[in-house]
Amino acid sequence: MTENSTIKAQMRQLIQILAKHNHAYYVMDQPSIEDSEYDQLFHQLKALEQQYPEYVQADTPTSKVGGKALTKFASVTHAVPMLSLGNVFNQEELFAFARRIEERLPNQKIQYDVELKFDGLAISLWYENGVLVRGVTRGDGETGEDITHNVKTIRNLPKVLSSAQAQVPTLLEVRGEVLIPKAGFEKLNAENEAKGEKTFANPRNAAAGSLRQLDPNVAASRPLAFYAYGIAQCEPPHGQTTMYASLEWLTQFGFTIGESHFICDTIQDVQKAYEKINAERADLSVEIDGLVIKVDDLKQQRQLGFLSREPRWATAYKFPAVAALTTVENIDWQVGRTGTLTPVARLNPVAVGGVTVSNVTLHNIGEIHRLDVRIGDTVSVYRSGDVIPKVEKVWPEFRPDEAVEVHLPEQCPVCDSPVVMPEGEALARCSGGLYCAAQRIEAIRHFVSRKAMDIEGLGDRWVECLLHLDLLKNVADIYCLHEHREQLLSIDKMGEKSVQNLFDAIENSKKTTLASFIYALGIRGVGETTARMLANTFQTFEALQNADIEALKKTPDVGDITAEWIVDFFQAPHNLEVVKRLLEAGIHWDAPVAPTRQPLNGESWVVTGTLSSMGRDEATQLLQALGARVSGSVSSKTKCVVAGEKAGSKLDKAEKLGIPVLNEEQFIALMKEHGQIED
Ligand code: IVH
Repeated sequence: MTENSTIKAQMRQLIQILAKHNHAYYVMDQPSIEDSEYDQLFHQLKALEQQYPEYVQADTPTSKVGGKALTKFASVTHAVPMLSLGNVFNQEELFAFARRIEERLPNQKIQYDVELKFDGLAISLWYENGVLVRGVTRGDGETGEDITHNVKTIRNLPKVLSSAQAQVPTLLEVRGEVLIPKAGFEKLNAENEAKGEKTFANPRNAAAGSLRQLDPNVAASRPLAFYAYGIAQCEPPHGQTTMYASLEWLTQFGFTIGESHFICDTIQDVQKAYEKINAERADLSVEIDGLVIKVDDLKQQRQLGFLSREPRWATAYKFPAVAALTTVENIDWQVGRTGTLTPVARLNPVAVGGVTVSNVTLHNIGEIHRLDVRIGDTVSVYRSGDVIPKVEKVWPEFRPDEAVEVHLPEQCPVCDSPVVMPEGEALARCSGGLYCAAQRIEAIRHFVSRKAMDIEGLGDRWVECLLHLDLLKNVADIYCLHEHREQLLSIDKMGEKSVQNLFDAIENSKKTTLASFIYALGIRGVGETTARMLANTFQTFEALQNADIEALKKTPDVGDITAEWIVDFFQAPHNLEVVKRLLEAGIHWDAPVAPTRQPLNGESWVVTGTLSSMGRDEATQLLQALGARVSGSVSSKTKCVVAGEKAGSKLDKAEKLGIPVLNEEQFIALMKEHGQIED
């Protein structure tokens, strides 16, 4: 070895040792050597660098992490899309996952690679000739944000690849998750609390918040760590034939992988591993929300391929819901757009499955009675994955003497109008209509929303300001805002440009569709689909406005109750006035497609399972364009079911009821026949 290469090797060794101790200290909160020993190594490296500046390495810890702040994130298109994973939640679903694989790979031995499912943020790292050149967030899977400046501050991540055994690839793209290990998270929160700064609800939020900073000094000050779980590209090929081996191969370059990682010979062994890890999960150094089960053999992975946006060769196996005990501090009533009063329990904040929960909806007064929940009660709060937390159980044995029973308020908490609860209905509502500020603001938000009049420029900030200035008493006032130009310009921070943008957006919204306009009015019971059905059935707004209950009920999707609500809406003088003003302002649309071109008019269809060539939303839109009503559940009224892969109980039910079922191929053929998809 020449003197030069000895010096370089010495520097590399020092960098690697320091990086290891840095990670142990900052991220794991478990110093592995004395501070004085660390300092000695650090100074030894620094001295070498001063003596041989020409050999200073890109990833040396002696040049401070961090750097200059960016002004915005650049977006980057992923060369290989970052897909997501399907989920299984129990043994039965896990075994079904394995069966589907066995059916596609008959007579082949299948081994499973079992990994921790990290609960952090997915990112992609590019190394060119062994140097970290780019870090990108997952984004929408196709395009992410360039966060190289922040990624470079992550201590356990190699910035330069070197290995004694393996050749450094010319191109390597590694996928993995960034998160804050538990110990570092606790320390971070303790420090923030001591400084009087905000604490983070969970490690995931803290990690996400750190990576979304333009100033890399913020990320540098947080104990972030990267855990690798896949290789998207490698040139020349790494030569490994299994998932397990390819992750091990990554570790020799200094990548960290999950602390628990193994191979199972059977799916039964996977189930055992899942039970074991779930039981021991509190002892792990990182938060996980399940396991990821992957077919180990990379050739088999390629054979299995992908279904829509998910690999057939892998699935997440989520842990069951987690519960926590807390107390109910209060129960408030919130008023929604249509005046519904929803009780919300204010809880003593509690961490449930890594998320702090302080508010939980109790849905309606019936649910309050069913649970018999009172202010002061101790309750169990459950949360499963992304599902909204809910109160599962009340513990009467812990009920304090001063616990307060909750009654439906007689008056609206926002406008004091009487609260009504018609017989047989679950929901109570405020009778104040648009007199009620809560209903007014929600009605306006709904009116401007994307699927309604789509006035993008009229965001919450504007709406609140305008309500405050009394310029928006109802939705028709939106089209008179131009009369108040001077007043709008005088609002703090609303310059000429933003006012003009707002006016342009309002003007553009005047050309719409009949369906969007009907939806925008916010008639009770008339969602997007019903609005489209009404437009198709009645063709003109006047016809809808004059329709009686019987005529309305001829519309697919409209039953007795909705028909009554529609009639009520058009009987209220206030609503007629608003509609008149809106139409006078120039809202217009092209005549809807004639129903004769709608061969599935009025039929009820169900789409279930995963389609490989399109999402369920797209399939729904195609069916709706032909006049069908797409429902979420199968009943004897269902005309036909479109069943993709993994279709479960809905397909079973359709078969039981003898309802025709189309597979994806047949569905596409039907869409081509009707000109919805090009041949
Ligand atoms: S493999 C083709 N392995 O879970 C997709 N993902 O729910 C390959 N995740 O977006 C992903 N731990 O961000 C894989 N050991 C692991 C993982 C993991 C966490 C995340 C990943 C993905 C999400 C899907």
